[in-house]
Amino acid sequence: MEIDYKKIEEIIQRYGTEPEDLLMILQDISEIYNYVPPVLVPFLSQKLNIGESLIYGVATFYKTVSLEPKGKYMVSVCTGTACHVRGAEKLMDALENDLGIEEGGTTEDLEFSLEGVRCIGCCASGPVITVNKDTHGGLDRSTVLESIAQYKKSG
Ligand code: FES
Repeated sequence: MEIDYKKIEEIIQRYGTEPEDLLMILQDISEIYNYVPPVLVPFLSQKLNIGESLIYGVATFYKTVSLEPKGKYMVSVCTGTACHVRGAEKLMDALENDLGIEEGGTTEDLEFSLEGVRCIGCCASGPVITVNKDTHGGLDRSTVLESIAQYKKSG
C-alpha cells in the first residue's frame, strides 16, 4: 500500500506534535486507511518525538485505532444485557458462519470486520447490530444475514 506522507504531514500539522495529539492523529490516519499502517509507527515516533512503544500502547488501548487492517464495513454485534437475552449470540454465530471469520476477525478481501460491543443505547430494538454508522434492530438468525447482504459486493 502506498502511503501518502504529504497527507500524514497535514494531519500532524492540524493537531500538533505534542504526545497528547497522538490519538487524534491516529484516528485521522485510520479514517484514510481504515487502520494505522505499522510502517507509520517509526515515522510518527520521529515526528512527535515519542517512543514507538507509546504508539503501540495507544493503538492497543483505544478501540478506534488498529494497527491491523480492518474491513470496509465494521459489523458490530451488541452484546449488552438486553440484546444478549434476546439472542445476540445467535446473531454473532450466524455472522461468523456467513462471513467465515470469528469475532474480532476481518475477511480476507478486507470487506468486513466483526466485533462484539457493549450496549449501544437502543435496547428496545434489540438484538441490534451496527454496520459502520447504520443500525439494524429486531434481528434473528436469518434477518441479520439479510441486513448485511446489502453491503456485499454485487457479483
Ligand atoms: S443492550 Fe443492546 S442496545 Fe442496549
